[in-house]
Amino acid sequence: MGAGRAVAKSAPSAPTPALPREGRAQDHGNDLAPLLQVDGVSLEYRTPERVVRATHRVSFDVHAADRFVLLGPSGCGKSTLLKAVGGFIAPVEGEIRLDGQRVTQPGPDRIVVFQEFDQLPPWKTVKQNVMFPLLASRTLGKKEAAERALHYLDKVGLAKFADVHPHQLSGGMKQRVAIARALAMQPRVLLMDEPFAALDALTRRKMQQELLELWDEVRFTLLFVTHSIEEALVVGNRVALLSPHPGRMRAEVNSHGFSLASSGGAEFQTTAQRIHDMLFEEEHAEAAV
Ligand SMILES: Nc1ncnc2c1ncn2[C@@H]1O[C@H](COP(=O)(O)OP(=O)(O)O)[C@@H](O)[C@H]1O
Ligand SMILES: [Mg+2]
Repeated sequence: MGAGRAVAKSAPSAPTPALPREGRAQDHGNDLAPLLQVDGVSLEYRTPERVVRATHRVSFDVHAADRFVLLGPSGCGKSTLLKAVGGFIAPVEGEIRLDGQRVTQPGPDRIVVFQEFDQLPPWKTVKQNVMFPLLASRTLGKKEAAERALHYLDKVGLAKFADVHPHQLSGGMKQRVAIARALAMQPRVLLMDEPFAALDALTRRKMQQELLELWDEVRFTLLFVTHSIEEALVVGNRVALLSPHPGRMRAEVNSHGFSLASSGGAEFQTTAQRIHDMLFEEEHAEAAV
């Protein structure tokens, strides 16, 4: 545990540099402007009785084709952050920008895939489910929407199931439909909130693998939320660590070199342990006082 804490506080070190950040947008340099900028964002829930601060001054930049993962324990504000990027909740502090434009409302350029299997209306066929947002947003006409739906269903291996209803599908297959539906909208950023958390362990690994293969093919930009350290390292090329409630940025880890194939290896395990220690560092510190 000592090693992880030392790394969190010191300069980046081999083999997988952890880059402590101060919660401010930085290192823009000569880079292209980031696709998505979350800049000093605090989010709150207000009820008549009290105010719950879900995140505190969180900052990160997502670049085109990043697989950016928000990792943190339950209740640290991951879903709330995703909702804010989705335009469903407004920050009380800071700002979220997509292509340099402030996010103020939901839009077809940001589509969310949730954990729940019931995100597909059961009375629509698989194909109709995938077509629906394309039609509802008037992105495409009926014929083009059907073509695009089949294209993305094929990409997730479900072209054969286009005409069945969701109740005839397994949990993993439903999530594939939800992913196809989201990708069919060709969003600027695909938002995923623990999309595989309700699946059994084997299916979950398979879905992680498939998501990476899909990314290889389509090169979408992904903002992915999980509380699983292993999943974060496998799915992401960059992982942002959020402290327990209220969520603050603790560090950013470059996870580019990890995959399902390396997940049993020593380097992977060491990094996972280090991340675990960083995530809970504050609690340890408080306990020690
Ligand atoms: N609708 C809500 N009203 C009040 N508090 C909420 C609401 N939704 C979430 N919270 C609180 O905000 C914090 C962050 O929640 P959430 O974003 O769901 O965390 P995570 O997704 O990381 O588990 C938690 O303390 C949670 O209890
Ligand atoms: Mg959540």
